[in-house]
Amino acid sequence: MNILIIGSGGREHAFAWKIKQSKHCNELFIAPGNAGTATCGNNLDIKATDFESLKLAALQHNIEMIVVGPEDPLVNGIYDYFKTSVETQHIQIVGPSAEAAQLEGSKAYAKSFMQRQNIPTAAYKEFDSANFNDGVDYIKNHSLPIVLKADGLAAGKGVLICNSHEEALNEFEEMVHHAKFGIASSKVVIESFLKGIEVSVFVITDGKSFCVLPEAKDYKRIGAGDTGLNTGGMGAVSPVPFFDEALKGKILKSIVEPTILGFEKEKLVYKGFVFFGLMIDNGEPYVIEYNCRMGDPETEVVIPRIKNDLVELLSAIDSGKLNEMIIVQEENVAATTFLVSGGYPGDYTTEKVISGLNLISENESVCFHSGTKKTNENIVTNGGRVIAVTAFGKDIKQAVRASLATIDKIHFDEMYFRSDIGFEFFS
Ligand code: AMP
Ligand code: GLY
Repeated sequence: MNILIIGSGGREHAFAWKIKQSKHCNELFIAPGNAGTATCGNNLDIKATDFESLKLAALQHNIEMIVVGPEDPLVNGIYDYFKTSVETQHIQIVGPSAEAAQLEGSKAYAKSFMQRQNIPTAAYKEFDSANFNDGVDYIKNHSLPIVLKADGLAAGKGVLICNSHEEALNEFEEMVHHAKFGIASSKVVIESFLKGIEVSVFVITDGKSFCVLPEAKDYKRIGAGDTGLNTGGMGAVSPVPFFDEALKGKILKSIVEPTILGFEKEKLVYKGFVFFGLMIDNGEPYVIEYNCRMGDPETEVVIPRIKNDLVELLSAIDSGKLNEMIIVQEENVAATTFLVSGGYPGDYTTEKVISGLNLISENESVCFHSGTKKTNENIVTNGGRVIAVTAFGKDIKQAVRASLATIDKIHFDEMYFRSDIGFEFFS
């Protein structure tokens, strides 16, 4: 079949790399893609949220499956857009409906869903300009630290962890009355701080059954030892050493199963990936957030560890055969290290020529492109996060070492990366 992937990051390159290997994939298209996805299929110069152009392209190229990478098109209703048109309703859309995508698009929606379904998460309340003064009282009486979250999508920036009441009150005012995160922060979820260690769990679901994918841990801070500003993600590892059978069992029972059952009970149409952002405190799992898509850079370690044919897995969503699928995982550890532009996550410049990529064979590492584009004969930088370098090893240390050995061969001006991805698991 002909398949269209939507998005332009390392996640979408990982999807393209894997889907291209499927015997079920005939022609592959990526909109808009990057210089890496162009080596797996045909890039289409269409924005991920331009539904009309995506529809025309899907019809022109006889697309039968669309894999939606990022959250924006999902929250904006791409599923419903294709499913409500007679011309495109036959196309399988891998992703949730607009309503179910609110689990990521609105923190308040996600929290009330978890409350209704008795899913463990931090205690919370939601506030906007109508009950602003109640919010002030709530903050004043809340233990520290206190977590403030913009309700809507804020490109990963809408979460603030405040260590004093004064700071929390200022930020609350900025968010609600001065649109700190635009319209996304006109409503704010205030919740208690969860301590512990984070892990990302992923499933594929048809809204009734589900398959659990390999878990991962990502490293969000810019600096070594998890210091400095938050980023989209500087690297990831899979599997996660503390994710043992006992913990997995608890997560399935108290979080994953009630979530999928909740979709059924609340008649939410969900036919795609669910990303559970979890905090594990003393062996007990809590949901920090739901995302209605795969993670980036987690996908760059999760996808290479899946031995199944990805198109077969995704097709099982629509054929009702998901519960017959068994995920076969690569035993070796995968680690990815993101090469980023100097200055990121703050200001940075682009169009730097990237050299060395031709020296790398897939036996040593896979370079998943993110912010890259081709100009004339060069591949140049085109974003903050540029390339995720994924390698395998017998343990995390070896996998990270292999990724760093590959990075030695790659260069662009002001290239920056963390050399300590997975550091807390180095023994
Ligand atoms: P999010 O944008 O929801 O992914 O949150 C970004 C990050 O903030 C998470 O990955 C956590 O590290 C942190 N975080 C969010 N909510 C909490 C919480 N209630 N307690 C502790 N950390 C949190
Ligand atoms: N790596 C975190 C995310 O994709 O949201």
